[in-house]
This record gives sequence, structure tokens and C-alpha cells, in this order.
Amino acid sequence: MKVDVFANDDALTTAAADLVHLSITEFAGRALGIATGATPLGLYAELGRRASAGALDTAGLSLVALDEYLGLGPSDEASFAAYVHSQVAAPLAIASERVAVLDGMGDAQQECAAFERRIRAWGGVGVQIVGIGSNGHLAFNEPGTPFDSRTHVVRLSEQTRLDNRSSFASGAVPQFALTQGIATIMEARRILLLARGASKAEAIARALTGAPDPSCPASVLQLHPDVVVLLDSAAAGALELPISA
Ligand code: GLP
Repeated sequence: MKVDVFANDDALTTAAADLVHLSITEFAGRALGIATGATPLGLYAELGRRASAGALDTAGLSLVALDEYLGLGPSDEASFAAYVHSQVAAPLAIASERVAVLDGMGDAQQECAAFERRIRAWGGVGVQIVGIGSNGHLAFNEPGTPFDSRTHVVRLSEQTRLDNRSSFASGAVPQFALTQGIATIMEARRILLLARGASKAEAIARALTGAPDPSCPASVLQLHPDVVVLLDSAAAGALELPISA
């Protein structure tokens, strides 16, 4: 696990974009794994700039998203499908046939199984971008989720629903979601974990330095052979650097 801490946001965004850019080339024929949330927005904007300048070739690239709220479709602006299309696929000029987001409106069990098949059919994930919840969640895998979980339906924790409330004008955050399982996420060839802000400091310290345990889902990343962690100084605030692993 490689951990880098940045004093300024632009430097963090550039380092993340450089790594994703390189990984897209290195893992050609595999999909790019997309996280939603506020943290990677600058990264996606920078990748979009590189793509429109012709510096980043996205021909043939597919996108696979981590999770979606149950009951939301792409026409709902709080859905992760809407986020992936507007913040990632459009700037990277990727057609919607090459974008996979879990369907929050269909038969949930069938959708979870179909999504696993789709990831495999698309060659698996090369680099997977992930964030972290303030409670240590990974995608929507909440504390207590087994490390061998596959794509499944989850009941969101109160903490997660509170953290994500600002995306919902009504304040009514769905109670359930669909998420790639922890074992599904761990099949990506490389994982890039991004975190910003003091609200993530405790979760980051547990994830990177505590014993890997389902009580902190992101701690599973210690068991992956190729993980890069990029943090701002606030998110690194509870770490005793340097981390060795
Ligand atoms: C959300 C998503 C995660 C995301 C995390 C952090 O609930 N399900 O995939 O990484 O929480 O979000 P943010 O970057 O907005 O802090």
C-alpha cells in the first residue's frame, strides 16, 4: 500500500489523474471503476480536460460504477447513474452503452447477479477509484459486511444517510441501496483510495492501520496487492506517518 499526503488540493487531483491516466493505458481492455461522491469530482474534471485535449484516449474504455440507491433511476438527479453520466461519461466522451451502473429500479436480486456478469464480460476492472465513508464504508458496504460479499442489497446506516443528505433536496435519503460487494471490489487490478477532510481522518486511520476487520470495511484494502492512497492533510490527521506495507 502506497500512501501520499498532499498539502494542496490541486496537487492531490493531479496525482490522482496521473495515476488513473497511466492505469487506463496499463489495463487496456478492462473497465475503469468509478466512485461517486464529492471527493473524486476534481479528478473527473481533470480527466475530462485531458480527454478533450486529446492527451487521454478513452476509445474502447468502459465505466463500471460501485453502487446505486434502491428506487432511484437515471432521471433522478440524486442517483449515482445521473452522476456517472454527467460527471464522468460525458466529459470522457464515453457512450452510454459502455457505462454500467446498477439499476435501482429493477428486480434487485436479478440486477446484482447480472451486474457481476457484466463486469466479467467487460474484462473486469483495471483501476477502481474508491472513497471512504466517515464510518469506514467502502462503496455502500457498511460496517459488518463480510469480506467475501458479492454485489448485494444493503440497508444504509443512519450515519451514511446523514452524510449523504445534502444530495437530496427533500432531505429524504433512501433506506436501501445496491452495492458491489467487497470481494467484487477486491477483484480490481489496482485500487485508488481518495479521501479529503477531517471527517474522514478517523476512518482512514482505522482502514490503514487497524487490523483488517469487517467493522471497518475499507480496512480490507490492506489485503489487496496494489493499492494507492491519496489524502489531503486533514484526512491524514489521525495517521502516524509513514505507513509501511
Ligand atoms: C458514498 C458512496 C461511496 C463514497 C463515499 C464518500 O456514500 N457510496 O462510494 O466513496 O460515500 O463520499 P464523499 O466523497 O462525498 O465523501
